[in-house]
Amino acid sequence: MAADAITIQDYQAFRSFLEDASGIVLGDNKQYLVTSRLTRIMEEHELDTFSTLMKRIQRDSTLRRRIMDAMTTNETSWFRDVYPFDILKEKLLPELAPSRPRQIRIWSAASSTGQEAYSLSMMTQEYLARNPGSLSSDCVQIFGTDISPSVLACARAASYEGVAVSRGLSPERRSRFFKQKGESWEIVDEIKKRVSFRELNLMKSYAALGKFDIIYCRNVLIYFSTELKRDILSRVAKALKPEGYLVLGGSESITNYSSEFDLVRWRNGVIYQLKP
Ligand SMILES: C[S@@+](CC[C@H](N)C(=O)[O-])C[C@H]1O[C@@H](n2cnc3c(N)ncnc32)[C@H](O)[C@@H]1O
Repeated sequence: MAADAITIQDYQAFRSFLEDASGIVLGDNKQYLVTSRLTRIMEEHELDTFSTLMKRIQRDSTLRRRIMDAMTTNETSWFRDVYPFDILKEKLLPELAPSRPRQIRIWSAASSTGQEAYSLSMMTQEYLARNPGSLSSDCVQIFGTDISPSVLACARAASYEGVAVSRGLSPERRSRFFKQKGESWEIVDEIKKRVSFRELNLMKSYAALGKFDIIYCRNVLIYFSTELKRDILSRVAKALKPEGYLVLGGSESITNYSSEFDLVRWRNGVIYQLKP
């Protein structure tokens, strides 16, 4: 299917469908993106034209999920941007450990294929090795959630190969936290055991997740409208324990979207803390 095979009307209808279902806002001229991501699905479902696809979307919930899955951008890497992981080991865990000796709950709110959640677990492991006895090894729980079923399947499998295992990961950490099986590298149990994943659309309720000490909501708000950013940040604030922390992506900030957090400066970056 060529990009010009999508009429303006169908493109507008598709943008509305995607924003209503996932919050993702597509720009004015992204027909080529839609075409490149959906051509395979259309072939599999023997849909000849984009108009037929738009009609089928109305009555086929499996197709709707496949499309949302295909339209998400799942770019991620180990220890992405470094800072959010250093701050966990150097500031947040040392601060939380004395006051929460039994349970520290961390949410990776758009976890993609799992690198963020497992990197947090690796940092926890390094903190425990450096501070033996300060926390029990199963005290930290990390929850990864995402809207996309296919990235969650990959995260749960905890097995990576090629570029997916090398980006951001030092050979030293790879040999300590993974075991090699043929071409693949599998995360070891001591890192895997404190991480779990579940499907969650950030547009829906977070009530079932309980409250968190730290929320990582990184590189996902950028895809949403101003109204949805405000709504998500207000519900993220409610999902935090008193004085809990929020970590956003390097190009994201709460400015203009929320006044419920204080800015916390540490080294050359910032995170946010729920106001008392
Ligand atoms: C660019 S990745 C970010 C991954 C990771 N947080 C990082 O910074 O490396 C964005 C993720 O957000 C997910 N996403 C997009 N819309 C979502 C929504 N409405 N609810 C939950 N996750 C969503 C996508 O499936 C994708 O895996």
